[in-house]
Amino acid sequence: MTACQFKPASPMSFLDYLAVLLTCITGLVLFGAFYFLELGLNPFQPEQISLACTGDPTEMMVTWVTFSPTVNPTVEYNVHGEPLRFNAAGTMTKFKDGGWLHRVLYIHRTKLTGLKPDQSYDYRCGGDDLWSEMYTFKTLRSGEDWSPRIALYGDMGTDGQSLSLLTSEALNGNFDVILHVGDFAYNMDSDNARIGDKFMNQIQPIAARIPYMTCPGNHETAYNFSNYKNRFSMPSDDMFYSWNIGPAHIISISTEFYFFYREYGSEQIANQYKWLEADLKEATKKSNRAKRPWIITMGHRPMYCSNADGDDCTQNESKVRTGLNSKYGLEDLFYKYGVDLMVWAHEHSYERLYPVYNRKLCRSPLENAYINPCAPVHIITGSAGCKEHHDAFKPKYGPWTAYRALDYGYTRMKIHNKTHLYMEQVSVDKGGKIIDNVWITKHHHGPGAWIIPMK
Ligand SMILES: [Fe+2]
Repeated sequence: MTACQFKPASPMSFLDYLAVLLTCITGLVLFGAFYFLELGLNPFQPEQISLACTGDPTEMMVTWVTFSPTVNPTVEYNVHGEPLRFNAAGTMTKFKDGGWLHRVLYIHRTKLTGLKPDQSYDYRCGGDDLWSEMYTFKTLRSGEDWSPRIALYGDMGTDGQSLSLLTSEALNGNFDVILHVGDFAYNMDSDNARIGDKFMNQIQPIAARIPYMTCPGNHETAYNFSNYKNRFSMPSDDMFYSWNIGPAHIISISTEFYFFYREYGSEQIANQYKWLEADLKEATKKSNRAKRPWIITMGHRPMYCSNADGDDCTQNESKVRTGLNSKYGLEDLFYKYGVDLMVWAHEHSYERLYPVYNRKLCRSPLENAYINPCAPVHIITGSAGCKEHHDAFKPKYGPWTAYRALDYGYTRMKIHNKTHLYMEQVSVDKGGKIIDNVWITKHHHGPGAWIIPMK
């Protein structure tokens, strides 16, 4: 038996060099494949397409995302059924998420102008020879004498329970506009903002066809709401804005200023309050109120609720209702200017309130409470179906609670005309069954309709 002999290393042969080279190339190919898979196959491919109203029925805002910069972001469009021979240039913003990966999204925005109201348009977005699939939207009707159909909900999350039914309704053209009342993806910033991408792609079949109007919720707070602000294109960058649709003036606010002022500044509460008062004053001018008598607000956290989770709305002196140190409370402001309806979410439940002000009912008995209501009506519709499931109810609740349910679902609203507004609650758990409905009839709008003296 001979002992093993240790051979000194020989210089690398051509084949060795070739092996190293092939290993490097394989690594690069694998890295590239991962990179493209991560970025959605092609980083120039438009995705996360959404529409937004500007308040002008001859306009439509189109927003989309790519993961590499597009040189000429463009929307090609034309009236439905015609070749896409018009195009509109847009802007591109580089958005760097605040997560540790600092992922970069390129946000593209194009405002289409000069459109005909009440007209269907085909469009696609992109540029540099890479385009989205074609979508169709319908512009809003002009004027006040028509009946907007609106979906209302909050707190949906990714794979939300209501997503499938809402998508079917969107494809059937059942809504003119969507109002998503805060709390979108749980959370948009999670997993280095990939959850935001997932959510925006999941709502694309809805939001690329129907204007998707929003307000921020507490799940959008990360990095000073940067995912929320970048991914949507509302009429204002301030997280509060108003716009008109048919016989209604809709006001969207941030209730989150009242809860994150230590992180992001208390001046936002005062700024929003001042803007709100000016906006309400204008909307309540005789000539404006005659045209658009319904004033509807949307904000994430309610003033009242009967849930058992200890949230702000369960407190007698909720911050949203009475303000911070009794300053900037919204209930008095909304009462003073005769806000008709307040739409809220945050509680993962559905709750309809009788007309109420300052924790007082204004009519007894309560039959016909919604015919010429003597105080504002509140609806909480936060049960679209996020991963946090339901917020249970307290067994005892205030006399202002008219109906409540823990079914997953969303609200349909139709503003029939200047005097009649209808809402119904869809239960996804019960296959789309209507579990609650209400007609609000108002022959007089504005603070003159109220009967409880202001405190
Ligand atoms: Fe919330």
